[in-house]
Amino acid sequence: MDNFDTASVVEALYNRAIDVVAKLRARGDVAVEADGAATRRSPRFPISRVAELVGRTGTAIREAEKDGRLPVVPRTQSGRRIGYTLAEVNAMRSVFGTRPWRDSTDPIAIIAVQNFKGGVGKSTVSVHLAQYLSIRGYRVCLVDCDSQGSSTTMLGYVPDLDIREDDTLYPFIRNTEMSSLAYAVRETHWDGLWLIPANLRLYSAEYELAARIARSDQRLLNRLAEGLTSIAEHFDVIILDPPPALGTVSLSVMRAANALLVPVPPTVVDFTSTTSFLAMLHESIGVLEERGLPINLRWMRFLATRADEQKSMQRELLQVMRNLFGESMLRTVLRDSAEIDNASARMMSVYELEQPVTSRETYQRCITYLNAVNAEIEMQIRLTWPGHAARLRAEGIL
Ligand SMILES: Nc1ncnc2c1ncn2[C@@H]1O[C@H](COP(=O)(O)OP(=O)(O)OP(=O)(O)O)[C@@H](O)[C@H]1O
Ligand SMILES: [Mg+2]
Repeated sequence: MDNFDTASVVEALYNRAIDVVAKLRARGDVAVEADGAATRRSPRFPISRVAELVGRTGTAIREAEKDGRLPVVPRTQSGRRIGYTLAEVNAMRSVFGTRPWRDSTDPIAIIAVQNFKGGVGKSTVSVHLAQYLSIRGYRVCLVDCDSQGSSTTMLGYVPDLDIREDDTLYPFIRNTEMSSLAYAVRETHWDGLWLIPANLRLYSAEYELAARIARSDQRLLNRLAEGLTSIAEHFDVIILDPPPALGTVSLSVMRAANALLVPVPPTVVDFTSTTSFLAMLHESIGVLEERGLPINLRWMRFLATRADEQKSMQRELLQVMRNLFGESMLRTVLRDSAEIDNASARMMSVYELEQPVTSRETYQRCITYLNAVNAEIEMQIRLTWPGHAARLRAEGIL
């Protein structure tokens, strides 16, 4: 029997599949319309939550609205406030002087959410952390370094339809003449959150970089770090969502990061591969150092993800991880939740859902542990900023 023409069969399948994606999107099964993320809504917060987020009482906010320091928010016909957008919350923070931005002398936090194992929750953690921090008022840039484009998708884009090669990291990484990565940074529907998107073309970067590095162009491993330095002044936190493999892009991510968050589901398979991750990480540190490109981390934390504490094996492994990693493991755990799965099936994060997909209880529980995990990471970040650390100490939090 003759071999079939694999290339054209695959091409035809791809074209049909992308057609289905476009149709799904048109049908509204996913929360995005033809012009991508722009059509998505930013969250709205009631005054009680705004007061907490802004760090002022509801009364102080209403007074500022009355005396004209703040714009009056629109009301429904029955006279109820319709809630405040994130942009309005941030405007209030400016008026009250409660923006939590780092000082210009504080180091920007560049966090790699890394584990070479696939499917451990890297993109889920990256997107929820990025949105949480922007709700808290930080200026955040989420950098999708993975050609699968999961973070890009969760922010509402279909990478193959909406993102061009020139919108990604790729041009900057390959062209050493370029001095700024600013071209790739785009606003999102979420105030305070910017995105550098990815699509499949980023996969070419792996091959191209590897070939050029083999021909002694070592400094290419530093391109991502250089690119992030060129945009750093605009942000408090940059979050890097890398691909699930040790390749040139992942090495570049390690080199560019100054903090490392390692998601690990408490299962035997994932735990085992995390030990290989540590071995590979150790080797990568050596490889980069030899090339004059050291990895400089301010902190490193393991985060148990997709945890199901109903399962005795998982409980046991969690305990093993706690004993083993000690202080290097976050106390809080990201549990397995149908709400996270359902949100991502809609190309969304849980923070974006306007109503629970499952039940209010499941949704609320999920938000509670997402916030707890993210708050613990926020604390790690603030500890690297001297002014913030002093405030935490003064407030008795440390
Ligand atoms: N805590 C959780 N509860 C339920 N589902 C989860 C949870 N975390 C992640 N998932 C689901 O698991 C799948 C893989 O997660 P995710 O894409 O975040 O992993 P990843 O490590 O980025 O994968 P890859 O290695 O392919 O980049 C997704 O469908 C996601 O919705
Ligand atoms: Mg991912």
